[in-house]
Amino acid sequence: MNTVTTTIPREEIRRQLDLCRDIARLLPRGAGQPAAFVDTYGCQQNEADSERLRGYLREMGFSFTASEEEADLILINTCAIRQHAEHRVLGNVGALVHTKRRRPGQIICLCGCAMQRPGMAEEIRRSYRHVDLVFGPHALWRFPQLLLQVLEGKKRVFSVEDSPGAIAEGIPMVRQDPLKAWVSVMYGCNNFCSYCIVPYVRGRERSRRPEDILSEVESLARAGCRDITLLGQNVNSYGKDLGLGVDFADLLERVNAVPGDFRIRFMTSHPKDAGEKLFQAMARCEKAAPHIHLPVQSGCDRVLSAMNRGYTREQYLEKVRRLRELIPHIVLTSDIIVGFPGETREEFLQTLSLVEEVEYDALFTFLFSPRPGTPAAALPDPVPPEEKQRNFQQLVDAQNRISAKKHGAYVGTVQQVLVDGTSDDPDHPLTGRTPGGRLVHLSGEAGLVGRLIPVTITGSSTWALFGDPAAAETIQHNHHDQEVSQV
Ligand code: SAH
Ligand code: SF4
Ligand code: F3S
Repeated sequence: MNTVTTTIPREEIRRQLDLCRDIARLLPRGAGQPAAFVDTYGCQQNEADSERLRGYLREMGFSFTASEEEADLILINTCAIRQHAEHRVLGNVGALVHTKRRRPGQIICLCGCAMQRPGMAEEIRRSYRHVDLVFGPHALWRFPQLLLQVLEGKKRVFSVEDSPGAIAEGIPMVRQDPLKAWVSVMYGCNNFCSYCIVPYVRGRERSRRPEDILSEVESLARAGCRDITLLGQNVNSYGKDLGLGVDFADLLERVNAVPGDFRIRFMTSHPKDAGEKLFQAMARCEKAAPHIHLPVQSGCDRVLSAMNRGYTREQYLEKVRRLRELIPHIVLTSDIIVGFPGETREEFLQTLSLVEEVEYDALFTFLFSPRPGTPAAALPDPVPPEEKQRNFQQLVDAQNRISAKKHGAYVGTVQQVLVDGTSDDPDHPLTGRTPGGRLVHLSGEAGLVGRLIPVTITGSSTWALFGDPAAAETIQHNHHDQEVSQV
């Protein structure tokens, strides 16, 4: 499975940047700066990709708008993970026929995972004739070249060739949030879980070189970023393809050593590869957030094996026990698929019992969605949708009860909260995150945004915590007694 990773030469990226300037000259300058509307579906990996696409767009001279009507260029970065995600995108793309009719020069571009899925580009070619450019994740680094082809040739361009994938460094970025940043550490996935489309659309696992990651983190830290999430489909495979003897736990330690006042998160850890070395590193690194997203998918060994997950229920539970031994207040979140083909009621109840046993802080629950070309899509699926829906609801209800209980336990404690935004709730005009990543609605002045402050938790719900900035005496008191709980 290991492939020699292709790196796009830096000169190639510089050439793309030159093409951006050619595009800037070609674009109509009538009513001032041209505007781009960028919409992103799917996971953080897609968000990170959109930051690069925006980087290119900025080099081409675009400003950014939140209105499709006002845009000279529309770019939609799509997701293929579930059928629902694709349907939403296609519905919105369909509606753009009207937008383009009112603004005939408008350029419509679709990119991302759903475009790379077999059959999709053909469907766009046939049924969505107002779309000008279609490209998959593998062609992202060539976006300027592809757009130039559209502009010069006045023709539709499709670039969705299959590929094991490459690494491209040096693409400019327009980041969305000065306080929080995504840093991709690797791309692709080799796991081929039987239900999942990602390995087919994002290619093989390939890691960025540690020095490239570290210099990105250093510049973020210097710019005042307070929260950095290291991204990959399975970060625990980091480095295997590099042959440098650096694995993810080593990378975490190196990122932790970068000077600055920031928290480190990472997503996603595959339970089969997350182990003692990583857990020890998390416990040791003071910047590592006490949080792990450890998707279990199912609590039943037969289903786990049919999913090709590579661990058993007992092995998973053992990892959770060890994590909690090392980091007692660790926040634990997970993903679960309900209704995998042939999942019986009895097998679902094993998932429910695992959820009750682990008591996750939060859970992302999904109904199985057959993805064309994956092995699970070809399995017989005799369970009626109503039964799947009933199981799904039962799981959601159970988790809501658990989340409410977990959040309730914070009431009366003081948490170190990174204030990261404002909201329109007059009683709690600020939002923030605990070290473990739980959402806090809090009172206080907008000037607190960007600061890490002690917050007294006064209330809780299923979804969030509520609090007030701790009074000076409390801070003092907590400081002396070391009571600022690190949950
Ligand atoms: N790489 C990550 C997951 C990325 S996809 C990991 O392995 O943990 C995010 C979640 O979507 C998965 O964890 C899974 O729960 C869900 N998912 C993926 N494919 C799905 C499908 N075909 N139907 C329903 N849910 C799916
Ligand atoms: Fe999909 Fe499995 Fe890879 Fe995650 S690890 S992206 S679920 S194939
Ligand atoms: Fe979707 Fe692609 Fe992410 S399929 S979940 S955007 S990797």
